[in-house]
Amino acid sequence: MYLSRFLSLHTLWVTVSSVMQHYPSVWGHYDVCKTQIYTEEGKVWDYMACQPEARDMIKYVKVTLDPPDITCGDPPETFCAMGNPYMCNNECDASTQELAHPPELMFDLEGRHPSTFWQSTTWKDYPKPLHVNITLSWNKTIELTDNIVITFESGRPDQMILEKSLDYGRTWQPYQYYATDCLDAFHMDPKSVRDLSQHTVLEIICTEEYSTGYMTNSKIIHFEIKDRFAFFAGPRLHNMASLYGQLDTTKKLRDFFTITDLRIRLLRPATGEIYVDEQHLARYFYAISDIRVFGRCKCNLHATGCKEENKRLLCECEHNTTGPDCGKCKKNYQGRPWSPGSYLPIPKGTANICIPSISSIGNCECFGHSNRCSYIELLNTVICVSCKHNTRGQHCELCRLGYFRNASAELDDENVCIDCYCNPFGSVHDRCNDRGFCECKEGTSGPKCDKCLPGYIWHSLGCQPNVCDNELLHCQNGGTCINNVRCQCPPAYTGILCEKLRCEREPGGCGRSSAPRGPGGLRPLLPLLPALLAARAR
Ligand SMILES: *[C@@H]1O[C@H](CO)[C@@H](O)[C@H](O)[C@H]1NC(C)=O
Ligand SMILES: *[C@@H]1O[C@H](CO)[C@@H](O)[C@H](O)[C@H]1NC(C)=O
Ligand SMILES: *[C@@H]1O[C@H](CO)[C@@H](O)[C@H](O)[C@H]1NC(C)=O
Ligand SMILES: *[C@@H]1O[C@H](CO)[C@@H](O)[C@H](O)[C@H]1NC(C)=O
Repeated sequence: MYLSRFLSLHTLWVTVSSVMQHYPSVWGHYDVCKTQIYTEEGKVWDYMACQPEARDMIKYVKVTLDPPDITCGDPPETFCAMGNPYMCNNECDASTQELAHPPELMFDLEGRHPSTFWQSTTWKDYPKPLHVNITLSWNKTIELTDNIVITFESGRPDQMILEKSLDYGRTWQPYQYYATDCLDAFHMDPKSVRDLSQHTVLEIICTEEYSTGYMTNSKIIHFEIKDRFAFFAGPRLHNMASLYGQLDTTKKLRDFFTITDLRIRLLRPATGEIYVDEQHLARYFYAISDIRVFGRCKCNLHATGCKEENKRLLCECEHNTTGPDCGKCKKNYQGRPWSPGSYLPIPKGTANICIPSISSIGNCECFGHSNRCSYIELLNTVICVSCKHNTRGQHCELCRLGYFRNASAELDDENVCIDCYCNPFGSVHDRCNDRGFCECKEGTSGPKCDKCLPGYIWHSLGCQPNVCDNELLHCQNGGTCINNVRCQCPPAYTGILCEKLRCEREPGGCGRSSAPRGPGGLRPLLPLLPALLAARAR
């Protein structure tokens, strides 16, 4: 038993890993919920659909038997071997550990010889039916990923129903009927999973395949998950993408493989004969050595982790979702309706993260500078809208252009951004560096560009080069330099530096009565002047 269990797990693993090797691009792993990527906006999170790994779910199960006193051994009784009514030397005694068969023994590790098993009382009240319900509860939604396998220690029952619940045991639906004669037991035509197709995969069937009585060597009953997967993913489950696509679009199909509870309804023990041997009713009972349920926590594609807390499984939700199945958005993240992640497009799926609520945003998201967020579909990210206090950025974490960061203020301080106050005439633009220094035009200086360098003078439009001064740009012919911006010339002279005779510009010219022109006069300087002025005005 141990070996076969080990082998089947091993086989599953080999199948999965070889699939991964051959179809890396079509096989969605869904094992990461988010990664950091680099965009023009800087580092941002990229969110993906994700799900926990499949595992042995029996470890987390709670079992209930109905009727509660149906386990053998109280009072002690003897039972006979199924195939031989005269071999009645087996004893069940609940008060002796070696002879007791409590329900836990269905879930312990097999491998010991003889195997350990749960056993019911014998059918001593025949013809009153011997009915037993074995209910397995997880108190958590689970998605089955492999066959349910039940191993009977004695013969497989003549009649049995496997039922499931999706609502923690409030309502139950049949999963599969098992009988030696389906028509007689359940008025159903016998079928096997192989008779189904993609279109009838959800049909509830009665199968006679596993109910051939005690004569056969096999003690195992399956509920076939993988055969049903194969209708979509191919016989060797090589095209999981196709299965995931179907699961994504067909809720009924997804729900079919989803459970919170299972119930094994044992309705008639193995008899191996048409007539029950009333002389030897100690031959008839139920005994189960192993139940195997393999699956994953259903986290709606919002978690890769599923942890046990207070004996209960809980998804470790990402994408700002919460709840045992990540089935709703966290408080303050209800900016749009919750929705499960999607397997599509293969292979990363769509995360469908929860986004911050419009009205109730916590201080940390926008540092108190905005009370509104918006979801940017293209980047799959959320940004603060209308940042106040001169902030900007995805989280209002930057200063607007024209402002700089107040080094002595926290990020959530109203005074976090300080106006650059760059002088509009003296600065190249209105931005400053992180110390508040503006970028100045030529001839201008000072942190705010409101001062002039030597040789320049502040006009209404900023610093202009001096027109005259007492060093290089002397006013000529007795003119006086006024505030470095103009020469006040004597009446007979004009020009920027009083370099021209006024009469030269008049219609008649200066005539003969030309003003005295100094021998070394102004002439030599004049050709230089335009170049000099141009250099200053640059
Ligand atoms: C077993 O459960 C079914 C419902 O799933 C119920 O109708 C039936 O009475 C139960 N049988 C016993 C023996 O508790
Ligand atoms: C199922 O889990 C819920 C929430 O943790 C808890 O309140 C409840 O008691 C659990 N039910 C059972 C039957 O354990
Ligand atoms: C909630 O989502 C935002 C982005 O939308 C993310 O930055 C933040 O880390 C998430 N919070 C949690 C607790 O997952
Ligand atoms: C910088 O922030 C501190 C702390 O809020 C504040 O006292 C100070 O006035 C701010 N400086 C300016 C220039 O706004």
